[in-house]
Amino acid sequence: MDFDHIHEERILVLDFGSQYTQLIARRIRESHVYCEIHPFNIGMERIRAFGARGIILSGGPSSVHDDGAPLADGEIFGLGVPVLGICYGMQLMAHQLGGAVEKADRREYGPAAINLESESVLFQDVERESVRVWMSHGDRILRLPPGFAVLAHSENSPVAAMGDATRRIFGVQFHPEVAHTPCGKAILENFLFRICHCRSTWTMKSFVELVTQALREKVGDDRVICALSGGVDSSVVAVLLHRAIGDRLRCIFVNNGLLRRGEAESVQRIFKDHFELNLITMNATDVFLDRLKGVTDPERKRKIIGNLFIELFESEARKLQGAKYLAQGTLYPDVIESVSFKGPSATIKTHHNVGGLPERMNLELIEPLRELFKDEVRLVGRELGLPEHVIQRHPFPGPGLAIRMIGDVTREKLDMLREADSILLEEIEASGWYDHVWQAFTVLLPVRSVGVMGDERTYEEVIAVRVVESVDAMTADWARLPFEVLQRISNRIINEVKGVNRVVYDISSKPPSTIEWE
Ligand code: XMP
Repeated sequence: MDFDHIHEERILVLDFGSQYTQLIARRIRESHVYCEIHPFNIGMERIRAFGARGIILSGGPSSVHDDGAPLADGEIFGLGVPVLGICYGMQLMAHQLGGAVEKADRREYGPAAINLESESVLFQDVERESVRVWMSHGDRILRLPPGFAVLAHSENSPVAAMGDATRRIFGVQFHPEVAHTPCGKAILENFLFRICHCRSTWTMKSFVELVTQALREKVGDDRVICALSGGVDSSVVAVLLHRAIGDRLRCIFVNNGLLRRGEAESVQRIFKDHFELNLITMNATDVFLDRLKGVTDPERKRKIIGNLFIELFESEARKLQGAKYLAQGTLYPDVIESVSFKGPSATIKTHHNVGGLPERMNLELIEPLRELFKDEVRLVGRELGLPEHVIQRHPFPGPGLAIRMIGDVTREKLDMLREADSILLEEIEASGWYDHVWQAFTVLLPVRSVGVMGDERTYEEVIAVRVVESVDAMTADWARLPFEVLQRISNRIINEVKGVNRVVYDISSKPPSTIEWE
């Protein structure tokens, strides 16, 4: 779905490959200005069509002297739109506008202090001396381009910031977008509000209003179907669409029998009873368990579950005559076609989603959250009145408990795991840890061990407890839960889950481990 130009005051961030590019966009949006990240080479036609109030050139790992170094289209500087270059973005400016860049003797990496040299609106309300900033560069500016003045210097960078106030083109050698540059927010806001003259109109309330209207116009009298999983993204999509088109939205919830305890009932209660969504629940436990019978390979489990989900969803969708659109909860980090994100993308685990469906089903995609970061989705959820426990819920993998039991999937194991899982969650919530960790779950291991209960020797199952902290699931570390909390979890699982006599805590980080065991 194309929401182009529903946000009129927009900033364009051109990405030259910095690990911080997404942070630049986050900071701008936190200041309530809409912005998008695009690759540095999208071409002048798209840049003009974008209609930015201001353009930011990100940092990047290259040196302007490298063969094939990414360059900005020179016309950018003649558009009459303010430009801010950050780190490599500033060096580019110097290089392309007639200045000179040289290799510095020493790389400047980490904290540094800058001193301001001349008055500039970019540094309004910023201290003048020993301003703490974060540097990360090898090259430095040797000669300013014509028309520019030095705005600040550091010990190692004679030009730590420069600007041409007439053309409204500025560059900073440091990274204002990172937390280690405490005045970074003020500098970026000076650029946004005092140089580009943006207003802070980007709020989740305005987003909900604009998108509701855009969805109404786009869908017209047609129907939309939506696979609801109960996770925050699909829940927000469903409620947003319901608000826009009411009963012309049909939601399908597939109970595959691999869910946590009470999940199906809770989705039903929230969405059907409370939000009055048009929700169909498919009870497909038998067919899922049947197809998974005897399967032990984790990737095969994933494929079977993903394919069966598509099969069932298709057959249900076909029954709903006249649906033209399929709604999905795709988020902004998934769609940024940015140089920073073309890292090694080897499939370590096939993550199941419903991609591939529309082509086979002749449905057009609607992705109302395409422009949002995860924390913005949560704010939209709040704006829409979703319960806090849905908004703050931990991620749960599509293949569910099937990838949390090593070996084959059986009803008995599922029951055991559900029981252990619900005890763990109760204790994590009761101890106040739920909102501080990324995920907390249990894994049923394929080994038995000896124990003693009363006077009896036992030979029973082992449950592993995994609780991790993470910001984006790319890396993770095990949560340092207090011993008392671990003790309660262990006692309760061993006492209450029949057939379990041992609990272990997983103390592996990702990498080299992964979050899930399979
Ligand atoms: P890993 O185990 O790769 O997990 O460190 C990273 C994040 O992804 C989730 N995950 C999945 N989600 N389908 C999903 O929808 C999957 O097959 C799948 N495998 C892992 C995992 O829970 C964690 O949040």
